[in-house]
Amino acid sequence: MSRGARIWLLVFLGVATARLQTAGLPLWAYGYIALPATPGDYSARCLGERPLDCDRAGGLPSDPQNIIRRLPGSDAAFTIAQINYRYGPADWFPGDHPAMPGIVANGKEALGLRACALCHLPNGKGLMQNGGVAGLPAQYILQQLADFSSGRRRSADLNKANAFEMAAIARNLTADETKAAAAYFSSIPFTPWIRVVETERIPVFTATVNGLLLKADGDATEPLGQRLIELPEDTYQTNMLRNPRSGFVAYAPPGSLARGEALSQGCRACHGADLKGVGNVPPIAGRSSSYIGRQLYDFQQGARNGDMARLMKPAVDTLSDDDLIAIAAYVASQQP
Ligand code: HEC
Ligand code: HEC
Repeated sequence: MSRGARIWLLVFLGVATARLQTAGLPLWAYGYIALPATPGDYSARCLGERPLDCDRAGGLPSDPQNIIRRLPGSDAAFTIAQINYRYGPADWFPGDHPAMPGIVANGKEALGLRACALCHLPNGKGLMQNGGVAGLPAQYILQQLADFSSGRRRSADLNKANAFEMAAIARNLTADETKAAAAYFSSIPFTPWIRVVETERIPVFTATVNGLLLKADGDATEPLGQRLIELPEDTYQTNMLRNPRSGFVAYAPPGSLARGEALSQGCRACHGADLKGVGNVPPIAGRSSSYIGRQLYDFQQGARNGDMARLMKPAVDTLSDDDLIAIAAYVASQQP
């Protein structure tokens, strides 16, 4: 085959894989309103050693005027640049969590490895576009970091830059850093962070490039339809201030909770009667509905394919898109 033909074949294969991966994505779980016209492929782009190479510009807010911001109940004061500082983001409430290990608080600037606390927040509650890591069993966290690192866990959405950055981060941690981060996050109890509401209409919203959905200004509403839409309770508190005490609300189609309860009976055999986890099987109750939906779809696609993940696959194989909505809504509505 000529060189030109080979290049065209590669381009064709690349486009074909990207289509296959994105065709059935439940958009709500991946933080899209609509798929971008040409979704990127971060699986290839992030194979370099610097995790920051995976970053997609425009994901974080900026404030050229550097106004000092404050939060009720906190003595701290930060500018938006400080709040989003890659190697030491704002810690509004240091009393809410144990002392952070260096890797969690600061990452590793020399490697372009951003602080865990930037994305998952200092208290590990996480945002819908990443996920909560607080209160997970340490052994489970270690296993996930190993699976990200080996490529046995990735996102079904090749355009999900932050998930591929997460894998690059896992590849660049030392054994000691991995252990310190796992011990830290697992020691923090996961407390209520999301409220689930059944409704037919929801606030009009926008999407950031990294998969955080945000209520638009004003009081306009739109039909929810067959989606499960998770929004910060307060756009300014979450997106601008990264207030680690301001959580999320998920809007679910009427009937989701009852249907989800019925569908999730089988989950209890492994995740526990209250879905709070058993041994190294992770707790799922009360966690981000988008994160849960995204993981269920990733398991279905085989994108999470570690030894432990294979136990999950039969439980999700036959679930329809509507089942994912009902289950994710119900599980998120439970007491963590
Ligand atoms: C650039 C943002 C970012 C940073 C920084 C980051 N993560 Fe993540 N992390 C993610 C995303 C995104 C996911 C979820 C991927 C998905 O949904 O497929 C994730 C998932 C995880 C998970 C899996 C959680 C679960 O419930 O299975 C663990 C564990 C984790 N991260 C630990 C860490 C640790 C430890 C650090 C610091 C060393 C870190 N992360 C830094 C973005 C980040
Ligand atoms: C046979 C045991 C088993 C059953 C049944 C099962 N799970 Fe799991 N589940 C697991 C294991 C083990 C993991 C950890 C997978 C890994 O390490 O990647 C997991 C992981 C998950 C995760 C990812 C958690 C995270 O933090 O990323 C979600 C969400 C989940 N399960 C939901 C469910 C739901 C909903 C059901 C029922 C429809 C269910 N599981 C049924 C064993 C099971």
